[in-house]
Amino acid sequence: MIPQSFIQDLLGRVDIVDVVDRHVKLKRAGANYVACCPFHAEKTPSFTVSQAKQFYHCFGCGAHGTAIGFLIEYSGMGFVEAVKDLAQGAGMTVPEVRSEQTVRRAEQGESLYEVLLRATQYYRAQLKDAPRAIAYLKQRGLSGEIAKRFGVGYAPEGWQNLAAVFSDYEGKALVEAGLVIQTDEGKRYDRFRNRIMFPIVNDRGNIVGFGGRVVGEGEPKYLNSPETKIFEKGRELYGLYQARKAIREEKKVLVVEGYMDVIGLAQNDMGFAVATLGTSATGNHIQKLLRISDDVVFFFDGDEAGRRAAWRALENSLSQLMDGKQISFLFLPEGEDPDTFVRKTKKGEVWTATLFSDFLLGELKARVDLKTPEGRAKLLQDAKPLVKQIFSPFYSLMLRKELAKLTNVTHEELDREYQIKPQPASSPSLRVPAQGYPRTPPTPLARTLLRILVSNPALAEKLSEGQRVLLNSPDLAPVAELVSVLKDSGATLPAMVIEATRESQYSALYQDVAGEILATSGDEESAQADLAGAFNQLELLQIRSERERLAAGDLRNEAERSRVQELDRRLAELKGAPRAETRPRV
Ligand code: UTP
Ligand code: MN
Repeated sequence: MIPQSFIQDLLGRVDIVDVVDRHVKLKRAGANYVACCPFHAEKTPSFTVSQAKQFYHCFGCGAHGTAIGFLIEYSGMGFVEAVKDLAQGAGMTVPEVRSEQTVRRAEQGESLYEVLLRATQYYRAQLKDAPRAIAYLKQRGLSGEIAKRFGVGYAPEGWQNLAAVFSDYEGKALVEAGLVIQTDEGKRYDRFRNRIMFPIVNDRGNIVGFGGRVVGEGEPKYLNSPETKIFEKGRELYGLYQARKAIREEKKVLVVEGYMDVIGLAQNDMGFAVATLGTSATGNHIQKLLRISDDVVFFFDGDEAGRRAAWRALENSLSQLMDGKQISFLFLPEGEDPDTFVRKTKKGEVWTATLFSDFLLGELKARVDLKTPEGRAKLLQDAKPLVKQIFSPFYSLMLRKELAKLTNVTHEELDREYQIKPQPASSPSLRVPAQGYPRTPPTPLARTLLRILVSNPALAEKLSEGQRVLLNSPDLAPVAELVSVLKDSGATLPAMVIEATRESQYSALYQDVAGEILATSGDEESAQADLAGAFNQLELLQIRSERERLAAGDLRNEAERSRVQELDRRLAELKGAPRAETRPRV
């Protein structure tokens, strides 16, 4: 757990303009910076970054967030990873309890990246002097440009070539990087010999391992780096680093099984493919992909092994399904892989994928005889553990409807059988636009208050007791919650508000409001006046409604009559006081 105070400090130190500009070139436009949005395809820039507010917002697709949010969305990093990345750039250390061992490991980790980078440079240089390897790559249709994009290299024949590259061939680093194998007798030799080398790049652009293919025929066809401190196969996807831009443009990501499939597809103008690394797609892989694309298509061989692999991918996808996102499966004809298939077809040609739910139900149906009650019962039973892993309300509902139809039970019977409770209003793993909104949209006045407070969070601490009391009404709950979160947070920038309210049920609303105020200047004095005006108006509205309520009851007793007089007095006072403009000057 990273303390909130650290997040606030971090956001005060980093500059979102630098962070974004590293990935997307920004141009100044008045007080803000703009670029073509990296999160949707567009020709005129509507992606806006505010230096003053430390916040970005796209007026085209609605993407928005802080520097932390940008790294999460753009690079697919996790929250902690994004915080660490920014902290590192700002020369700050993320406070956490770390054992001495983890500190030592982190230090060694740094040097492993350097070792692998140096090895990559060596392998790439060697490819230039390896006519046989070059001929093989050419014969497989690879251009020099694509080979360069993927950093393809060649590990020459010989047992200790790396000794000429690294002065410390006997040291630990080469073994820990997975480049050198040490026998029980203490003899050392290069893991990769006479192989075409495919560097595996992580989200941050660091090389974490290699795949090595024999030139031509031979066994094993591929040799991969072992898992190391910096390389975990269940987290990395081959080609993702190079594919990001194409995935965004195409609004689709293809998931294939091999290095050469990714490269072959890229060579045929389909640069939006990634490969798992000899394992089936894990939940982590799928989560990562769904963050950067709404449409994930898995490619599998059409044979029995392919269907088994597809089923495993399906099982690992269940808990990652999200409303508004689609996962589908494409089964290739027998004997084809994406690399060979793409040569025979063309980009844009219709490759019909099987939708997630169709594949799931199809496989389950194939196991039973639906004409018998036993078969239908088994279908319900087989589907139950799968359905229960789905968090997405929409996917879950659609599947249950289909299942009810297939097995001839009512929807209610099925839900009772599956012990499905009505969905809670918010579930943490989902990020859909409607999430985090109060059920009824905020009133204009509530929205005005939110705009002022998000823009000038420091004002939250200056509210009077009377003003706080005015917020005790259901339609002002998002404002009251914001005030209470901000109270001791020390937040001074809109970006800090967004991070401080990340866990709030209204987080999406706050982010939306931050987007609205992007173009306004955050002058504190006028904000303070606007805030006072908004509260006056709020009080006015509340007094009027109380007065109406009392008047409707005929003012039977003395207490009620004197209350009305008191309200009228206050009303007269307020009439002379300033009111909020519909759009405050914040
Ligand atoms: P394939 O055998 O389908 O290879 O292995 P491919 O991608 O079609 O390769 P080419 O076209 O013959 O060059 C798919 C993936 O399985 C892993 C690798 O990750 C490979 O990319 N694999 C395969 C191994 O790890 N070792 C092997 O011996 C074979
Ligand atoms: Mn192949």
